[in-house]
Amino acid sequence: MNHASLPCLTLGVCDYPEHVEATQWHIHAQQQKALGLAFVRIGEFSWQKIEPQSGKFDWQWLDKAIDIYQQAGLKVVLGTPTATPPGWLVERYPEILAVDENNQVKKFGSRRHYDHASAIYRKECQRIVTAMAERYGKHPNVAGWQTDNELGHEGTAQSYSAASVIGFQQWLENKYSSLDALNTAWGTVFWSQTYSSWSQISSPNLTAVRQANPSQVLDFKRYCSDMIIDFQQLQIDIIRALSPERFITHNFVIFASEFDLYKASKNLDFVAWDSYPIGMLEYFATWESEEIKTRYARTGHPDLVSLNHDIYRGLKGGTDFWVMEQQCGHANWAQYNPLPADGAVKLWTAQAWAHGAQSVIYFRWRASHMAQEIMHSGLRQQDGRADRGHKEVSELSTQMYPLVPIKAKIAILHDYESMWIYDQQPHNLKLSYWAQFYQFYSIVRSLGLDVDIIHPLDLTNNTYSLVIAPALTLVSDEVAKVLKATAKTTKMMFGPRTAFRTESGLVPKDGQFSAIAEMVGIKLANFDSLRPTLTQEIVPFDKVDENQYQAKLWCESYELITAKALYHYSEGPMSGKAAVTELDKVMVVGALSQQLISALVKQCCVELQIATEEMAEGVRMSHRGEHCLLQNFNQHAVEFAGHSIPAVSSIIK
Ligand code: GAL
Repeated sequence: MNHASLPCLTLGVCDYPEHVEATQWHIHAQQQKALGLAFVRIGEFSWQKIEPQSGKFDWQWLDKAIDIYQQAGLKVVLGTPTATPPGWLVERYPEILAVDENNQVKKFGSRRHYDHASAIYRKECQRIVTAMAERYGKHPNVAGWQTDNELGHEGTAQSYSAASVIGFQQWLENKYSSLDALNTAWGTVFWSQTYSSWSQISSPNLTAVRQANPSQVLDFKRYCSDMIIDFQQLQIDIIRALSPERFITHNFVIFASEFDLYKASKNLDFVAWDSYPIGMLEYFATWESEEIKTRYARTGHPDLVSLNHDIYRGLKGGTDFWVMEQQCGHANWAQYNPLPADGAVKLWTAQAWAHGAQSVIYFRWRASHMAQEIMHSGLRQQDGRADRGHKEVSELSTQMYPLVPIKAKIAILHDYESMWIYDQQPHNLKLSYWAQFYQFYSIVRSLGLDVDIIHPLDLTNNTYSLVIAPALTLVSDEVAKVLKATAKTTKMMFGPRTAFRTESGLVPKDGQFSAIAEMVGIKLANFDSLRPTLTQEIVPFDKVDENQYQAKLWCESYELITAKALYHYSEGPMSGKAAVTELDKVMVVGALSQQLISALVKQCCVELQIATEEMAEGVRMSHRGEHCLLQNFNQHAVEFAGHSIPAVSSIIK
């Protein structure tokens, strides 16, 4: 199936035929078709059902389920079941169990209990994936494949087993060749950590008495990232060979952070992710206030959701993605799991489309009457009655959502390695890579602007008018080269901690910015970590505009070499020092001030002739081709730009 040929958004649902009696299957498939669904995703946790005993396969039930979907006119996305190795496999090979950061072996009885460093487990995965792909790889009703399920999720990205440590030592030897090189790269002279043999190096967990060496942690993250990518590639290779005409994707998680998703997506046909807007706000957005969490408790925050959509659209250079699991009722895993507001499922579906989704697959068809997810909802309740989300999906008209391209004028740069180094030493309880990134993103979105989120290396030959790098902390030589080339033609804005770390996580010998020194024309004077009760005043350097701005949590001051100051601090230990600088097309913003960053983005947009429109609270605008989607995430109607938008709803202009 050529997934690129679909004219409009398609819908589907995650289904678990093995959770209900077979007598229900026909009924469910008919109901799914009647609801307007085109796809079902199945199978991703069904290893035990497929292979109840080692080497003894039972395909009957899955053959029958796929046939029933086919008769109903629903295409199948098959998940490889490697997130749930069965009990007999664990009993035979206990060494495939994962080891957590307290060096505790994780026990059987839930999911994701495997160690992706285990050679035995890798072989077993190859065996089950081969068996599945041989059987269904050319099945006319199988549209494509999902590898595993949410790789690295639920604290499983880093592996602390003996196999992993040995693999890490080899990975380091390949990378550094000599221990001298490694000791220099990590700065091991500090606290007598110098290594005199590869076998002395371990994983960076349980280090006494304080945190591990950040350069070691950075390399360990890279190593585990490579390992996950490798683990997935074993499956991709098998499926490609046995199922060459079908697509392969993976369902990444909300704010997935623990491995390099750009690399992990490279050999997938397209990317998918699992969107739970309410849980996302409650559980992942640690920086949001109680007020915001309350206001958006039943819809999720529009910018949190769209930020994830924009990341996933950007992973393969701006291609359409799937939402492989879309919340369609209450979830079960956040601290609080309120019911979505009336209209929220339609709102999220339209938003996904506007940000580049090609298919939205709801999680799940029928709520489970057993086991860990009893408290989770589906489109239908445990007894089969249609639930609230079902009604909303029945009201959707996918013809309204054509799959035309998105053309953003603004790019925001995102980089996993910068995140890994930033988050080890945030130096402020309230700060993190995502918190800082989100602040810039949300400001841009609240001006009605569309954004592509891309990796800095994807800037080559860019056509953007404005490029913003909110937290590009780690700047390698390769990235520096691309940034310098971009700055010749394109307006750029950098946030705090830019180019503060080298590739191995040290501060450059010539200090912050040295990788891009000529481009920014400044040196760091000081940085200042503010507790939440402190603010820092900033004023324009030349008093052109009389506004004063308050920064919170983080301020940097700069020495001017060739750049000029646009704003400076007017009080405190950095009084009189530059807070915002400019050199040619490059602006550096050292202070986290909502109003100031917003004013600067607006100023850039005026200069670049990009039209902005201040959005009302909870209202957002997104464009796909010629279509403009206006959405109201408030639970009350809003008058905006001559439109009356009812509570929790969308209009297409
Ligand atoms: C996802 C997961 C699903 C299900 C769902 C519940 O993260 O992939 O299997 O557990 O959460 O919200």
